[in-house]
Amino acid sequence: MYRIVRKKELGPNLVELEVEAPLVAVKAQPGQFVIVRLHEKGERIPLTLADWDAQRGTITLVAQMLGKTTYQLGLEYGEGDCLQDVVGPLGNPSEIELYGTVVVVGGGVGIAPIYPIARALREAGNTVIGVVGARTKALLFWLDRMEQICHELHVTTDDGSHGRKGVVTEPLRAILAARKVARVWAIGPAIMMKFATQTAQEFAVPIIVSLNTIMVDGTGMCGGCRVEVQGQARFACVDGPEFDGTQVHWDLLLARLGAYKEEERCALEQYLAVKEGRR
Ligand code: FAD
Ligand code: FES
Ligand code: MG
Repeated sequence: MYRIVRKKELGPNLVELEVEAPLVAVKAQPGQFVIVRLHEKGERIPLTLADWDAQRGTITLVAQMLGKTTYQLGLEYGEGDCLQDVVGPLGNPSEIELYGTVVVVGGGVGIAPIYPIARALREAGNTVIGVVGARTKALLFWLDRMEQICHELHVTTDDGSHGRKGVVTEPLRAILAARKVARVWAIGPAIMMKFATQTAQEFAVPIIVSLNTIMVDGTGMCGGCRVEVQGQARFACVDGPEFDGTQVHWDLLLARLGAYKEEERCALEQYLAVKEGRR
């Protein structure tokens, strides 16, 4: 069992959890994730390793409450409670090297996975420019952590409540136009990564994205996370989750992400109805 040792609300429907998982913590690398099952009857969901502490034997996860499982995690699990399974670290680590000047872009909950990548890039000697954004100020988190790591940090909100009004691709375009950038990482909603890729392509700068496909086993067995990259079927869990953004078939990915929308809506509605005593 994996005990939650700390829980913090980062914003509306956004929780940070520090979980005892010593065997994961000693092996974790930036870019990797775990598959979590809350209880014996729970579904498996992937969450990125946003931070870890090998000495404490803990990992840090940030979860956005979107549907049944993440709501259950956010509403019902607190400090002292245990998660049934935490499997990992899974996926390939980010390719951290000395590139020169790099830009790391985190959109929404994507700020969590971009943070350890930014930190490792900085430790490798890169000049790290950060761009983080969210719909509104209340959904921005870990700005303090990002400020510590990045040589320069640009912040956007869709509604202008904090930082520059607009989306992350705007500062990204301005940076790429003004500076010689060796590589971009972008993590966030698929649509944001698609547009970040187009922006990087305009300047012929390589861009790495982390694909948030639906996953079940996380070990290459179920095919749930199939994506098309460079015209070939790849499994995001074992071949990724990071890929060259310019080679991803974005529209297929977006369509597959929405494949179970109706079932997901029903599951959440039923869960909340029972929880609120309506059923
Ligand atoms: P549902 O209502 O079931 O689904 C909501 C949406 O989430 C769906 O439309 C679909 O797009 C996606 N989704 C549903 N089931 C899965 C599934 N089994 N696997 C992946 N996506 C699914 N979210 C975070 O909040 N923090 C993270 O650090 C994080 N890291 C991720 C890392 C990877 C490698 C991947 C692939 C996804 C990550 N996600 C992360 C997304 C997270 O797994 C989904 O939001 C979660 O599974 C939704 O479950 P649900 O039951 O609450 O919502
Ligand atoms: Fe099953 Fe990738 S999650 S093959
Ligand atoms: Mg679900």
